[in-house]
Amino acid sequence: MSSHGTPIPMTSRPCGPLTGEARVPGDKSISHRSLILGALCVGETQIAGLLEGQDVLDTAKAMRAFGAEVTDHGGGNWSVHGVGVGGFAEPDQVIDCGNSGTGVRLIMGAMATSPITATFTGDASLNGRPMARVTDPLALFGTQAVGRAGGRLPMTLVGAADPVPVEYTVPVPSAQVKSAVLFAGLNAPGKTVVIEAEATRDHTERMLEGFGAEITVEETDKGRVITLTGQPELTPQKIDVPRDPSSAAFPVCAALIVPGSDVLVPGIGLNPTRAGLYTTLREMGADLTYENERTEGGEPVADLRARFSPDLKGIEVPPERAASMIDEYPVLSVVASFADGQTVMRGVKELRVKESDRIDAMAVGLRANGLTVDEGPDWWTVTGLGHGNVPGGATCASHLDHRIAMSFLILGMAAQKPVSVDDGGPIATSFPIFEPLMSNLGAHLVRANA
Ligand code: S3P
Repeated sequence: MSSHGTPIPMTSRPCGPLTGEARVPGDKSISHRSLILGALCVGETQIAGLLEGQDVLDTAKAMRAFGAEVTDHGGGNWSVHGVGVGGFAEPDQVIDCGNSGTGVRLIMGAMATSPITATFTGDASLNGRPMARVTDPLALFGTQAVGRAGGRLPMTLVGAADPVPVEYTVPVPSAQVKSAVLFAGLNAPGKTVVIEAEATRDHTERMLEGFGAEITVEETDKGRVITLTGQPELTPQKIDVPRDPSSAAFPVCAALIVPGSDVLVPGIGLNPTRAGLYTTLREMGADLTYENERTEGGEPVADLRARFSPDLKGIEVPPERAASMIDEYPVLSVVASFADGQTVMRGVKELRVKESDRIDAMAVGLRANGLTVDEGPDWWTVTGLGHGNVPGGATCASHLDHRIAMSFLILGMAAQKPVSVDDGGPIATSFPIFEPLMSNLGAHLVRANA
């Protein structure tokens, strides 16, 4: 399934109980960072459980283009022989990051303070997304960027030959922007400081520390102040990538809405900066438990057990929780469709600049399936119809967005009539085994329109 290829229409038919174990792939955020940080050390970083989705494969290819030796040993085991901080070679080809905003933004940061030039592009979705949010702070280091109108890809970056460290307050809650600045700060002499008013996923900070960088994080009245000392000697690591909580969301949410379901999703990373969906689902009355809680590779991990939850109720999701569940609002809106009452989601304007405008994509598709959805610039509401009462029956546009495609397929599992998507191809960017995994649990997925 390729997001560049022929569209793959898919249909999800109403199904019986979902049962069994769902082993979802490795975390996408940690997988990108493992490859990039591995490329920034001299020596061999070993990675187990790497997500082999297209987004991450595109980052692996990019790291090779910048001079790292990246090897696939099979079974999710990879190694990276890096070139060291400041050691990136100039690529002799355009870097195609496919569908991945995380890939392109993190790589731009990682090359921005080396004296090399690189040109970046992506698919139609990525080439429509804003890049100035990254190139503006990179300009403070001395990096030049020339792209299309509105700061869009394709775009060429000329790395700063004599970078200076920067202090930067991230104007939107974005771990990608924060991480790009920190990666750029690695090759600037002195201290680079990043301030974020709202905490976003902190994998970059944790991993930089793990790779031996000097990095401190202070909670202040301005927010989180992250200070990185530049030009460290990073030490190669052995990384066990935890399974992705954002992918786990799909079998978990499906189990909550399909009557009789009982699904175990083992080994899920539950870093508090990522786990907001699970708190929200419990507030809605979900039968969702954490079993076998433990720490693996510096990240909190647990096995999730989700059972059909007959008494889901709509709630108001606190806006301050948005960053910790930003990728999960589409599938939350599906669960909300089966709850009693309205679910209100505020403080979510970032959803409009993801792989698609996710508020719009979900609102249009949910309405076509019989739901009432209201929306504003940074909020939306879904009025739930209760279990058994969601009509379904529509074909939805996935807009080159994996999470939109998967969310509508989950809707079809518990609606009265099948739900189709025009293109399931993008699912391969983050969750290449979605189809067999959900089918093994008991879902009825077919590659055709209903
Ligand atoms: C990510 C950060 C988030 C998230 C994306 C992955 C990351 O994006 O939506 O899927 O790995 O840093 P923003 O940084 O734009 O919020």
